[in-house]
Amino acid sequence: MLSKRLSSITPSFTIGISSKVSQLKKQGQDIIDLSIGEPDFSTPDAGKDEAVKAIFANKTKYDLVPGIIELRNEIVDKLYKENNVKYDTDEIVISNGAKHAITNALISILDYNDEALIPKPYWVSYPEMVKLVGGVPVFVDTKKENQFKITPHEIESSITPNTKILFLCNPSNPTGAIYTKDELQSIVDVCVKNNIYILADEIYESICYGNEYISVASISNHAKDITITINGFSKSASMTGWRLGYSASNKTLAKAISTVQGHLVSHPSTISQWAGYGFLINAKDEMRQMVEMYKKRRNLAVSMLSKIKDLDYIYPQGAFYVFIDISNLKDKLKTTESLSIQFCESLLQEEKVAAVPGIAFGMDDYIRISYACSNDDIVEGIHRIDRFINNLNK
Ligand SMILES: Cc1ncc(COP(=O)(O)O)c(C=O)c1O
Repeated sequence: MLSKRLSSITPSFTIGISSKVSQLKKQGQDIIDLSIGEPDFSTPDAGKDEAVKAIFANKTKYDLVPGIIELRNEIVDKLYKENNVKYDTDEIVISNGAKHAITNALISILDYNDEALIPKPYWVSYPEMVKLVGGVPVFVDTKKENQFKITPHEIESSITPNTKILFLCNPSNPTGAIYTKDELQSIVDVCVKNNIYILADEIYESICYGNEYISVASISNHAKDITITINGFSKSASMTGWRLGYSASNKTLAKAISTVQGHLVSHPSTISQWAGYGFLINAKDEMRQMVEMYKKRRNLAVSMLSKIKDLDYIYPQGAFYVFIDISNLKDKLKTTESLSIQFCESLLQEEKVAAVPGIAFGMDDYIRISYACSNDDIVEGIHRIDRFINNLNK
């Protein structure tokens, strides 16, 4: 019999859609996949070269639990120069992807029935991760007119004596919204006042278009002390399969996170860690080029979407997603169940376009599309969405 804890866990929606799409593609169907949360670029050579060098230099044995010292030092340097936060090497723990870094942090912080505030819309795995470690996800409604960014008032009205941590995904998956310095400052103030940790998921931090990006830990010493910054290489370095992420937190937490990791997995593959090192020291230009490409694709996607009169969307300032409001189509889709699932299933069936239903992010009036794909796919995919909606109107 499975554990009681597992009985409330839903399998990942996005991973489910990806396997459906690959099945359909294998059957030879002409699918445009706008569901994917994965960069379409290859891992930069700087990362691959360093990994190959590490293999042949026999850097293939157990190493330090929080990660190889060279990579942790580079991460410290990056966080200081790019994010304006001064961490020490022993405040960094390198993990098997950002997912693992988040889970380690939650195990270290949450006791049974401790509450985690999760602003809606949220990244699909947050609630399930909280439940897996015995905590309670508490969903916080946010407003469209604020681009679904959480406000201090919304946080305060959800706090109970059991509240332990707030999730802050910045830039947001699924909306691409980015918090300003003032917004972050006021969130920090509420969290410091109420003794709440901030889990700052900054995995999309380098994919930011134009605006100055502010890391919440850089706001003040107080902010740094209560924040667990999560970042990684999956999105910024196009290294999803290498499974490499990290957390930066105060020394006590970092030590706890390292203890958890030590018992569960020891450390991520040393080869992947050397690839991450190579990326950080030698792939800045390639990263800038990738971000330029994403920006052009963002512009292309929103210019097409803005011409579809039944749709509205949150203007993305970062990441590589558009969160699209489909509520105007409620009458036309005539569903008694989930609007976003009905929309995505019909879209896939009729127009062979894969998108993610907003219900996966806690908001059923929306769908999410990704523009981490070619310009041709963006144009053809949105063209088909337009045709799908026109056909509904007939
Ligand atoms: C907001 C967010 N956090 C974390 C992750 C997980 O990243 P990783 O592949 O490094 O585990 C993702 C991946 O989609 C994500 O979108």
